[in-house]
Amino acid sequence: MNIKEAKRRAAELTELLNYHNHRYYVLDDPEIPDSEYDRMLRELQEIEQAYPELISIESPTQRVGAAPAGRFEEATHLQPMLSLGNAFTAEELQDFDRRVREGLGASGSVAYSAEPKLDGAAVNLLYEKGVLVMASTRGDGTTGEDITQNVRTIPTVPLRLQGAGYPTRMEVRGEIFMRLAGFASLNQRIVNEGGKPFVNPRNAAAGSLRQLDSRVTASRPLTMFAYGIGEWEGNGKPDSHTELLATLARWGFAVSPDVTRVIGHEGCQAYYEAMQLKRPELPYEIDGVVYKVDSAALQEELGYVARAPRWAIAYKFPAQEELTVIRDVEFQVGRTGALTPVARLEPVFVGGVTVSNATLHNMDEIERKDIRIGDTVFVRRAGDVIPEVVRVLPERRPANAKRIELPGSCPVCDSDVERIPGEAVARCVGGLYCKAQRKEALIHFASRRAMDIEGLGTKLIEQLVDADLLSTPADIFELRAEQLQELDRMGPKSAENVVAAIQQSKHTTLPRFIFALGIREVGETTAKSLARHLGGLETLMGADEETLQSTPDVGPVVAGNIVRFFAESHNRDVVSRLIDLGVTWDDMPQAGASNSQFSGKVVVITGTLAQMTRDQAKELLESLGARVTGSVSKRTDFVLAGENPGSKVEKAKELGVSIVSEADFLQLANF
Ligand code: IVH
Repeated sequence: MNIKEAKRRAAELTELLNYHNHRYYVLDDPEIPDSEYDRMLRELQEIEQAYPELISIESPTQRVGAAPAGRFEEATHLQPMLSLGNAFTAEELQDFDRRVREGLGASGSVAYSAEPKLDGAAVNLLYEKGVLVMASTRGDGTTGEDITQNVRTIPTVPLRLQGAGYPTRMEVRGEIFMRLAGFASLNQRIVNEGGKPFVNPRNAAAGSLRQLDSRVTASRPLTMFAYGIGEWEGNGKPDSHTELLATLARWGFAVSPDVTRVIGHEGCQAYYEAMQLKRPELPYEIDGVVYKVDSAALQEELGYVARAPRWAIAYKFPAQEELTVIRDVEFQVGRTGALTPVARLEPVFVGGVTVSNATLHNMDEIERKDIRIGDTVFVRRAGDVIPEVVRVLPERRPANAKRIELPGSCPVCDSDVERIPGEAVARCVGGLYCKAQRKEALIHFASRRAMDIEGLGTKLIEQLVDADLLSTPADIFELRAEQLQELDRMGPKSAENVVAAIQQSKHTTLPRFIFALGIREVGETTAKSLARHLGGLETLMGADEETLQSTPDVGPVVAGNIVRFFAESHNRDVVSRLIDLGVTWDDMPQAGASNSQFSGKVVVITGTLAQMTRDQAKELLESLGARVTGSVSKRTDFVLAGENPGSKVEKAKELGVSIVSEADFLQLANF
């Protein structure tokens, strides 16, 4: 290849790679397999190695990072990076809206762009003729630090803009952040390597951006949402914020999918409440919402006060981290006997609720964070996650702070507590002799996804265990209405109902039964897999570790747990009593059995089904030996499509994957 050819090919590969990078990271909709992408990237790397003069700043090879720089240079923004005023209450939000309307002399309501306030680090990206030439931190708003090399490694930041029509010079503003999943795995990696984990995703994002070695930044799961602009040189500036974000998305930026246009302060308030509800489900942290007057002309009319625009405001959520004091630590015993230290706290209002307990996870965690009774700590409640202690304020530790000790015996049954070396958890060895473990095991047995005994919930089981009416799952099937009737909040009618539900639950499925037994680390999927692979309970109970490991999903640890479970005569007795008492199930169709044309097939279910729920369809397909997955790929055998199927069917068409209607499926399944 001569230089001319190399140059042409490098330009072509750069464009292709940038396009596919955008499909993969921003649109989450790849067109080509990873291997194809890697092949093109390697080809470009080879060309650049042969002709280093061809390496351009928009080349995707520049995303891998480079050797450390001495320090960050200063970078002055073309337009200052402003801050936002805050509102904390509905009244403050109404005041903002009133100021906007008065400022504009508006008689009616004003339209706002409403968007999540991402909790990360602000960044300024300078594009010249569509190419990213500089990225900087906010700094003091006028001058920040040049972090271009680091930002280039972030896959959702376009190195060159897609499409056309962009201005000659433009500053794009956005937030760089870390998703919760990425944050968790990064921290795990750091801990495994003996390092100190980040306190929260915001610190992790900011810390990763300020690495002098951009190869470190490249290894961190960072992403970015664009939310505005600074400088704009040239024509075609969109005349509303909504239009601006749509334009930025067209050029290849990731924009929050939760941005929407609302009317007046009522619309703003409704959006705030909706986002507060959605917050626990979001895969990243937000600390509030931001409203911006949508019209660009009206924004200009309103102008700025000090360093903040009059046309925008942040409405903050209640803090998710607060300070409080640990009064005491108690140990709770779970289903598998694991002892979990729980901190009893001075009650504190955090994340919108009063918190008085927080999990300390295990002894290693306590040691790592150096937590003691009496300490002042940061407590955090993110979403519906159990509140946890983030860190201690050592400067506030009282002289009489007490070390937390693992109890030598179980706080519930007094059996020994063992801690296997190398394992973080300590366990009560009491097994089902321990009332705490017995309760948890029974709650699990009766739960919806296990034996599904309606009405036999936590409260009732606790009472039954305390009254010594229940000690093993088999006892459930001998309960009489007269016994239940005696308990709190139980009348004759509800007692009858529970007994009826117990009788009804006797006819179950083998996977449910296996799952209900509560063998350590045998979840629903493994239970299904075991049932399908081994076909019957006898086979499962008699299987050795080697046979068990031939089941998909079952490794040596799970196989060991199963063998140990059935080696206990006590457990075997419970199983045979359950069967004597009438627990039954239908035979399992075996995996790979030739009687099912569905066996081994990979299926995706989409749309609304008329004859059954999606869960039922999944259960039926699995009982026929198929595997049900969530997204369509080349490996999908067919898509079962109901009404209003949406993008999965499009994807299937694109990939040439068969689409089967519900009616056809039921006919094929002889159902
Ligand atoms: S707009 C003139 N929109 O919150 C408007 N900021 O001071 C300037 N932030 O550090 C900011 N999400 O990085 C805007 N959707 C969003 C935002 C957002 C997060 C951050 C921003 C800045 C702080 C506001």
